[in-house]
Amino acid sequence: MDKSKLPIGIFDSGVGGLTVVNKLRMLLPHENIIYVGDTKRNPYGSRTAAEILSYTRDILRFMSAQSVKLVAIGCNTVTATVYPQLMQEVPYPLIGMSKGIKTAQKISAGGTIAVFATELTIANHSHKKAAAAWDPGLKIIEQPCPELAGLIERGYLQGTKIMAPLQKYLAPVLQTQADTAIFGCTHFPFIQPLFEMLSQDRLAFVDPAHEMALEVLEVLKKADLLNRNSHSGTLQLCFTDATERGGMLAAQLIPKHEFSVQKIRLT
Ligand code: SIN
Repeated sequence: MDKSKLPIGIFDSGVGGLTVVNKLRMLLPHENIIYVGDTKRNPYGSRTAAEILSYTRDILRFMSAQSVKLVAIGCNTVTATVYPQLMQEVPYPLIGMSKGIKTAQKISAGGTIAVFATELTIANHSHKKAAAAWDPGLKIIEQPCPELAGLIERGYLQGTKIMAPLQKYLAPVLQTQADTAIFGCTHFPFIQPLFEMLSQDRLAFVDPAHEMALEVLEVLKKADLLNRNSHSGTLQLCFTDATERGGMLAAQLIPKHEFSVQKIRLT
């Protein structure tokens, strides 16, 4: 059996991982992709680590049943809390969400980098640890943004409902020397224009999804699992709750005729 034709799995607590799907499809257009967004149980950022572990196991069971050749975690909160434990549990490569440190280091003139993420991701200091390992000279400013992922899930991509908390999270960061900022949550690129407007161009924003896509490419290449089809791969989007918002947000990033949407049950 030619394993290279098997799909890549990618998942998130909800719609955020679609920003990673978009980058993956740009870099690996021939791969078949199955996306799972656990829209019924998100946001994960306000869950316990035990809950996140259990939900992620449900998703990985679903992925195994689809005979995936690799799974990429399009969720920083899952990566920061339970990823090392899960790596041992699956028979395929499991890739955690990239931190974007390498890209941010290249862009930052002064070496001070802000990270915007969920409370759980920040509590795990995963970006700080990754930065220290990559370049101990980097200074990381951690900014938890507890309300943002939930609001984005509910469709607030503009207006005061999302601008007010965003302003609150940006204010302390704008008092620092930070010149570059990493989206430490895959939901946040959906509101990049708001981040840019409210920071008055004082921060350059890094979406780690590109680094993630490069990592997936490398792992597939090394394992000789790259799909060599000449036609475009399929994209199947699966959500555990209503599919309309996911489909609508996907359509903002990916032409509508290029994907199908369905509702699934994980438990
Ligand atoms: C969330 O569900 O709270 C956001 C997940 C993430 O960190 O991307």
